[in-house]
Amino acid sequence: MSLPKLWSLHHILLLSVFTGAANGYYNYRWPQCIYSSSDFSDMVFLDSYYFNKYLYVQFNSTVGRFVGFTEFGVKFAEIWNKDPAIIQQLKAEVDTFCKPNAELYKTAIHDKAVAPVVKLSLVKQGDSRHPSLLMCSAYDFYPEKIKVSWLRDGAVVTSDVTSTEKMANGDWYHQIHTELEYTPKAGEKISCMVEHASFKKPMIYDWNPPLPEFEWNGPLLFTAGAAGLMLGIITAAAGFIYYKSTSTDEILVLH
Ligand SMILES: *[C@@H]1O[C@H](CO)[C@@H](O)[C@H](O)[C@H]1NC(C)=O
Repeated sequence: MSLPKLWSLHHILLLSVFTGAANGYYNYRWPQCIYSSSDFSDMVFLDSYYFNKYLYVQFNSTVGRFVGFTEFGVKFAEIWNKDPAIIQQLKAEVDTFCKPNAELYKTAIHDKAVAPVVKLSLVKQGDSRHPSLLMCSAYDFYPEKIKVSWLRDGAVVTSDVTSTEKMANGDWYHQIHTELEYTPKAGEKISCMVEHASFKKPMIYDWNPPLPEFEWNGPLLFTAGAAGLMLGIITAAAGFIYYKSTSTDEILVLH
């Protein structure tokens, strides 16, 4: 693996710190490569010089020369702008420094995809009057771009998808939660489909409804109790008959 190129300080100045009695004075230089396109076509090299918090002179590769912001900065910009060697080298940094490093970061970080962990859950159990609420959650995926949809017997559902929230975990991973309001129909299959850079094809997760809860009520309890009692009587009777028959056999053997 090749390492990023380090910014060389050979041509101009110095990175210096003057320490006063109580406070420090900071004179520093901040080179930056700024871009947002994946082909780096919008790459800008920025070389900024600060004294304490104040930016006094800056080179911007798009502008192609130094621009001073204080009397001191303007003076320095004037001098440096007269040196074609310095200007040529700084302009070239876009190609020699920024782009090769950006390419390294891209292959090392940006192109790495981490698959989401997908979970389906029942948020609210519906009844005869209210629909159920299902939630499809995808956790810990990278990169952020993702598509989560609901399928009803394989067809994409467009209505009744009540909310979609995408959140950054703060550790480069993201999560998303999508809800579906639905009235269960017998034999129908509800699934959540997730499309992400980490998958070769859309992944489908089927919803397995939990078994309906068994409700005990008065008559049911009575029936269960009566059945239990009957079972007890039968068992006792069978035991008694068995005992009787075996003891008779023993008597017979003895004779
Ligand atoms: C660099 O200069 C260009 C052209 O003036 C400007 O559009 C851009 O905002 C500058 N970049 C920064 C970061 O200042």
